[in-house]
Amino acid sequence: MEAIVFDMDGVLLSTDRMHFEAWKALADRLGLPFDETKAQRCLGLSRMESLEIVLEGSGRSFTAEEKEALAEEKNRHYRALLRGLTPRDLPEETVEVLCELRRRGYRLALASSSKNAPEILARTGLGELLDCAVDGNDVRRAKPDPEVFLLAARRLGVAPERCVGVDDALSGVAAARAAGMTVAAVGFASGAGAGDWNLKSLGELLERCPGAEREDKA
Ligand code: G6P
Ligand code: MG
Repeated sequence: MEAIVFDMDGVLLSTDRMHFEAWKALADRLGLPFDETKAQRCLGLSRMESLEIVLEGSGRSFTAEEKEALAEEKNRHYRALLRGLTPRDLPEETVEVLCELRRRGYRLALASSSKNAPEILARTGLGELLDCAVDGNDVRRAKPDPEVFLLAARRLGVAPERCVGVDDALSGVAAARAAGMTVAAVGFASGAGAGDWNLKSLGELLERCPGAEREDKA
């Protein structure tokens, strides 16, 4: 393996909790139920696809304009939560794992469905720990389509077969697999046994991605 391609929300930092809070507030306002099961189905999907899940069972139809406004309402709330992000919100484990993988010679990329990724990378300093980032602004199709993982591999200049894709969502696992990568599942997807590797923590990547043999080759 030569490169590791990471999902962001729920893998490198816990912005998945903020997505939950913002979707829940919207659902509450509309009088719709929104629980962890629905939230998990939203993981990795685009904002508009996630909205469809939030609106399920409402018993009414929404126009395209109404949906745009609802998605915008959620995003305003989400972005207000993001304004509080600082480098301290980057878990120590994330920093340690990224720095150590880099020290071992792996190329590191982001493959996120989020259009807010650039702001999150800048606010937390995460961007400086990665070689390149691909996000929802760069692709036409969100996960489970492999586009975001394929583009990350292309930007790194590494064949997808030489990449590990790391994701916490079933849609992300499917996307990385469709891209031809070895899939390391964390969080929910790991609990579901969806990955080739089902990791208990991000730190376990260090056991799966050794450095010594790479140094021998160098
Ligand atoms: C990630 C999250 C999803 C979110 C999507 C779009 O994949 O897991 O829950 O819907 O990004 O995020 P955005 O920040 O563009 O609304
Ligand atoms: Mg995720």
